[in-house]
Amino acid sequence: MSNATPLADRQAVHARSLADPDGFWLEAATRLDWMTAPSRAGDWSFDRDDFHIRWFEDGVLNVAANCIDRHLATRGDQVAILWEGDDPTTAPRHITYAELHREVSRFANVLKGLGAGKGDRITLYMPMIPEAAFAMLACARIGAVHSVVFAGFSAEALAGRIADCDSRIVITADQGRRGGRTIALKACVDEALAIARAVDHVLVVRATGAEVPMTAGRDIWYHEAALNVAADCPPEPMAAEDPLFILYTSGSTGKPKGVVHSTGGYLLWAAMTHATVFDYTAPDVYWCAADIGWVTGHSYIVYGPLANGATTLMYEGVPNWPTPARIWEVVDRHRVTTLYTAPTALRALMKEGDAYVTGTSRASLKLLGSVGEPINPEAWRWYHDVVGGGRCPVMDTWWQTETGGHMITPLPGTPAKPGSASLPFHGVDPRLLDAEGRELDGAAEGNLVIAASWPGQMRGLWGDPARFFDAYFSLYPGVYTTGDGARRDADGYWWITGRVDDVINVSGHRMGTAEVESALVLHADVAEAAVVGFPHDVKGQGIYAYVTLNAGVAADETLRAALRDWVRREIGPIATPDAIQFAPGLPKTRSGKIMRRILRKIAEGDTASLGDTSTLADPGVVKALLSESQARV
Ligand code: WTA
Repeated sequence: MSNATPLADRQAVHARSLADPDGFWLEAATRLDWMTAPSRAGDWSFDRDDFHIRWFEDGVLNVAANCIDRHLATRGDQVAILWEGDDPTTAPRHITYAELHREVSRFANVLKGLGAGKGDRITLYMPMIPEAAFAMLACARIGAVHSVVFAGFSAEALAGRIADCDSRIVITADQGRRGGRTIALKACVDEALAIARAVDHVLVVRATGAEVPMTAGRDIWYHEAALNVAADCPPEPMAAEDPLFILYTSGSTGKPKGVVHSTGGYLLWAAMTHATVFDYTAPDVYWCAADIGWVTGHSYIVYGPLANGATTLMYEGVPNWPTPARIWEVVDRHRVTTLYTAPTALRALMKEGDAYVTGTSRASLKLLGSVGEPINPEAWRWYHDVVGGGRCPVMDTWWQTETGGHMITPLPGTPAKPGSASLPFHGVDPRLLDAEGRELDGAAEGNLVIAASWPGQMRGLWGDPARFFDAYFSLYPGVYTTGDGARRDADGYWWITGRVDDVINVSGHRMGTAEVESALVLHADVAEAAVVGFPHDVKGQGIYAYVTLNAGVAADETLRAALRDWVRREIGPIATPDAIQFAPGLPKTRSGKIMRRILRKIAEGDTASLGDTSTLADPGVVKALLSESQARV
């Protein structure tokens, strides 16, 4: 590694960052290009009476200018976005920083022509093509707030997200491509807009060239609109605290939460963590194999790497199509130096055997990253030994949509412990609390909270300040509650043990159990539903649904299949239950609260230790559940 940070050095920097946050962060902020440099760093309080979070408040900047314009003089001809198509025979696209400047400016001018400006919300429902990044950066350039919705979400889910932030413009494509199939994106937007009507325009990027119906007066082809605009658009000066984007994520209650990130603090966090954790040095080719529909794609495909002037690879497809060697072939084809992916992908590829990996060179790789869920030591070793040939350090990065970027992570040079995300990044102050909120010292296990604000912290939930405080700061006063459990070992290394709330992690995607339950109970035959996670050897966690049917409805295989389809249609394929158990009744306390602990145990197959069932309103319910628990679909 060119810039490995020895353990003692990283610990010294960390200590300074906590001892003198103002000095540390004002200095760190100079890595960005400010129109007006900030004079203050953090100004925050997590207390209910004085709750506020602000960073670099008097600073003025533009995110697109930081990700594009400032690189033009030094690396205008360097590739900014390197695109690899789904089909391996498709020619890759190489977009230089100079081209990116023209493309994003044009896109920005098209949006302006549609009346969009500072503060307006714009929803993106896009495939993994460079135009998705152009659209995000174009919003940032004019100060509009983008809300990217993962293109695997259903029309229902899309409609809810469009309506929640009152987007008047939706940007989509005719179709997307993934794993040899096409995805009807425009058709899905049409369906969503039949529900969420208040949209003025749909801007459609031509991706596959498929014929799609266009609604006159509402729908506009991007390539036609782009003919009539200038290739230059001055970046809008934005206050550091102006919102940059909204990203919906699952919480422990039914409705997805619109996480809001800021302009200055977020960009600094994405850029600094990308540079430090991945040790980016030109002309490295850096590949984050996430989707732009998730926070990982925002921070580590688009904003972090481009702010650092990197070459960021954007891949349209899936790791294992047309063969399980594809991901490694892409590494060889583009001489990728850094690969950042999720444990679920590694576990799926690992199952196919080593030959798909060892048949490729991978000599270009220097560093590997992991994100999205705990990486089990077996997958860690396979990644390190087989994929990286033992040469490449593995960065197991723990963070969340809410944190904007990496929070607990190795840096190159941090001694590895497979399965541990290791140590807090600069400025991050993690603590462990027991269930009563008492702080635990030394080696211990408990609830992971963060005691001090950091620049990349989310600034709110769109349109719902009260829910923001309640969801993250009310359970344990004075700290940010992550919703994760963790263990700290005797060396001070952190081991994330998984969610402690009603959120499950399916293939590295967050899913609220309440969201799946709400979808199920919308079905006419369903009286009640309870959803829990259970261990799944590839997905990490699978979705296990207990469903109580209305009286007189036959509990058969046809209905089971229909309910699975129903959830896919309501939310999207990622929410498809792995198991549906028909349950005559659910275990409840006398006050009517569902005892999820018992449901989790049954779903895990751990029926020997159901624990105390004496507080159940009807203990007979558990017996019935046990006798029918062999019903995975
Ligand atoms: C989990 C994804 C263990 C965790 C960036 C967190 C992890 C949730 C790791 C956030 C990791 C993410 N080790 N667990 N390295 N990375 N998680 O918002 O439970 O989609 O709370 O953000 O994923 O998921 P989200």
